[in-house]
Amino acid sequence: MTAARIGLIGTGYIGRAHAIALRSVGTVFPDVEPPVLELVADTDAARAETAARELGFRRSTGDWRTLVVDPEVDVVVVCTPNHLHRDMALAAIAAGKHVSCEKPLALSAADAREMARAADTAGLCHLVGFNYAVNPLLVTARELIASGEIGEPIGFHGRYLEDYLADPGLAFTWRCERALAGAGALADLGTHLVDLAHGLLGDIARVAARLTTVIGERREPVSGRARRVENEDCAQVLVEFANGVPGVVDVSRVATGYKCGLAFDLFGTRGSLRFDQERMNELQLYRNDDRAGLRGFRTILAGPEHGDYRPFCPAPGHGLGINDLKVIESRNLLAAIERRRGDVRAPGAAPDFHEGARVQRVIDAIERSHADSAWVEVPANGGVGR
Ligand SMILES: NC(=O)c1ccc[n+]([C@@H]2O[C@H](COP(=O)([O-])OP(=O)(O)OC[C@H]3O[C@@H](n4cnc5c(N)ncnc54)[C@H](O)[C@@H]3O)[C@@H](O)[C@H]2O)c1
Repeated sequence: MTAARIGLIGTGYIGRAHAIALRSVGTVFPDVEPPVLELVADTDAARAETAARELGFRRSTGDWRTLVVDPEVDVVVVCTPNHLHRDMALAAIAAGKHVSCEKPLALSAADAREMARAADTAGLCHLVGFNYAVNPLLVTARELIASGEIGEPIGFHGRYLEDYLADPGLAFTWRCERALAGAGALADLGTHLVDLAHGLLGDIARVAARLTTVIGERREPVSGRARRVENEDCAQVLVEFANGVPGVVDVSRVATGYKCGLAFDLFGTRGSLRFDQERMNELQLYRNDDRAGLRGFRTILAGPEHGDYRPFCPAPGHGLGINDLKVIESRNLLAAIERRRGDVRAPGAAPDFHEGARVQRVIDAIERSHADSAWVEVPANGGVGR
């Protein structure tokens, strides 16, 4: 095994989480060769140098374009604001690097599809940062659905609520600017929820949406100048999955009190499942065939019986955290790269750029539905598909 050499771009909130994960992935999963944290880039040399020292990278640069072509880098991890994902990922792919890119993969489904195609054509591994879905308990949820434990799925209630912009006094950020973020709450939070829904029930086929910007103006941090918020704070969406299951999706970045309210109820003919990321070590299962009088949701605590939990901890109920999900995600990428070294046709990483594009097609359709006040079909592929 050869250690993959990492080049990471963007050292804010999620860049830091990637660095933590990449430093521990070889310890948690000993079958993965620990990667070398080779080079880190941020907007200027001083900032990148500080990040290199804090995060444990060998070298730093203030210019991401030098990072993507650096001969000592094998894998580029893109952790910058949304509008930069496309150009950074395409430049890395052109230089022959495997790419891990944060969500949303791109600002449009067309861009996301271009990225997926470029990475496939170059024979490189690609992964998009939908980390919540790698939670071992959600793998169990998918297994329970597939095995018929709750019968036929008949309804989905999904929500991703946070309150990080609920305070009108909070400054304007790149997340409020169309050219930098694309959509608002949908791009930031909705993409995770759509990916989760895909994993549970498959493709979303149609949507009918209403989007709202609750706080229409915010002040710029330095100048104090008022700026119009250019994307939505909330999205309420009726959805229909390709398998006919109807659902509701609710997304907000101004939902006071919610910190990481990524949650769902999934109703089946014989039972139900429910999950809430704020209690990410609990999965709830209700079964109709439990004894009358004793029916109710049972709480399944995460433990070593649940897939990737065991390498972190042999004891049930002690719990994983968000950074552990990034460790699992890092293992998924590095293991795929290793597989491909032995066999170029071996399976790549998941969730890959095609999933990023599939999610983006849903987001684009939601925005179109709001603009047209109509149900909109999500293209399966072609058009803006794969
Ligand atoms: N997977 C998740 O759960 C998750 C969580 C948070 C953020 N994200 C995604 O990660 C991305 C970054 O979000 P964040 O919260 O870390 O943002 P952030 O603002 O905290 O950090 C962004 C970093 O990118 C750097 N940057 C900006 N322009 C750059 C350039 N031209 N060259 C090099 N570096 C540049 C900034 O200086 C900063 O260090 C976004 O796309 C966001 O959607 C994903």
